[in-house]
Amino acid sequence: MDLKNNNVPLEINNVDQELANKIMKLFTGEHTGFVRVGPKGYFFPQKYTEEASKIYNMPLRDSDVFVASYPRSGTTWTQELVWMVANDLDYEKSAAVPLTQRYPFLEFSICVHPVMKKKFTEENSYSEDKLKLLEDVIQPGTDQLASMPSPRFIKTHLPLSLLPPDLLETAKMVYVARDPRDVVVSFYHLNRLIRTQGYIGDFKTYWHYFINDLHHWTPYFEHLKEAWEKRHHPNLLFLFYEELSKDLQKTVRRVSQFFNKDYTMDEIIKLCEHLSIMNFKNNKSVNFNVMAELGVTITGEQSFIRKGKAGGWRDYFDEEMTKEAESWMQNNLRDTDLRFPHLED
Ligand code: A3P
Repeated sequence: MDLKNNNVPLEINNVDQELANKIMKLFTGEHTGFVRVGPKGYFFPQKYTEEASKIYNMPLRDSDVFVASYPRSGTTWTQELVWMVANDLDYEKSAAVPLTQRYPFLEFSICVHPVMKKKFTEENSYSEDKLKLLEDVIQPGTDQLASMPSPRFIKTHLPLSLLPPDLLETAKMVYVARDPRDVVVSFYHLNRLIRTQGYIGDFKTYWHYFINDLHHWTPYFEHLKEAWEKRHHPNLLFLFYEELSKDLQKTVRRVSQFFNKDYTMDEIIKLCEHLSIMNFKNNKSVNFNVMAELGVTITGEQSFIRKGKAGGWRDYFDEEMTKEAESWMQNNLRDTDLRFPHLED
């Protein structure tokens, strides 16, 4: 069925219900089905259709800063880096205001099925504060952003083609990409951790959904390529997770330049310490513990801020998957000059 909406010049088609039912057996947080969007066929929960127009047509401000990525590419790390650099290293505010409030997550609400929303609401009904927090976290990002003072910092995993078309002419974007093999391991753990996804299958099955573009925000390479094509645009800064991992100080200097900021060596060293994985794990303002407090994530799985290493995929991939990954990556990199710097060294 073509769900084309006059306010969004993108074709939205339902994923075949039989296939959707098969996927939902393993992804227990979704209860209706999925759609594919636009010429690239980006894959989303059904609820995307409710938000598509509000997102595509959201009014932008020239002070807006987007941090965008395919999920699990180092978004949170980049968000804090960007926020600190753009806000004159305001450690006090960074500690006082959680990242989730500093950066509304534009489309998170599309992943929260009404059945899950009802469950979370019932479970937190004993506390007014928790209900308020829950509402803040799961309300549509566009609603939250409309009343937010400038400058607004916005987290999104949407590819450029589903965002307002004038975005780069108006606002700034920092895009971060990561080796898809590490992304898939990391996203697998998150899909088990977070009840809105509720994944109960094994890793290999998950991997196949991912490379066959049957997973949220895929196709993965199309997502990256859209941003990569704009990497020379003055309002877009393209980063790699592996670049942050290898030389964080250098990346901080790149980000500072992008925001026309000039920091001393001492300030940069202090910021890199603040951004280290150990500090991140213990930093309540960035570590998403709020999701655990609200019961949106389960206990017993690895935490949102997990290993923080490049190359960990090797522990998860058998020989067959390693070969599949190689040819999948080769095929997708054939028609582009996008290259992962850590694979070129
Ligand atoms: P792993 O699961 O491989 O550890 P996102 O923020 O886009 O969801 O990405 C999450 C990934 O970034 C996770 O990867 C997480 O551990 C890693 N990460 C978060 N903060 C980090 C930091 N300060 N240093 C290194 N990696 C970090």
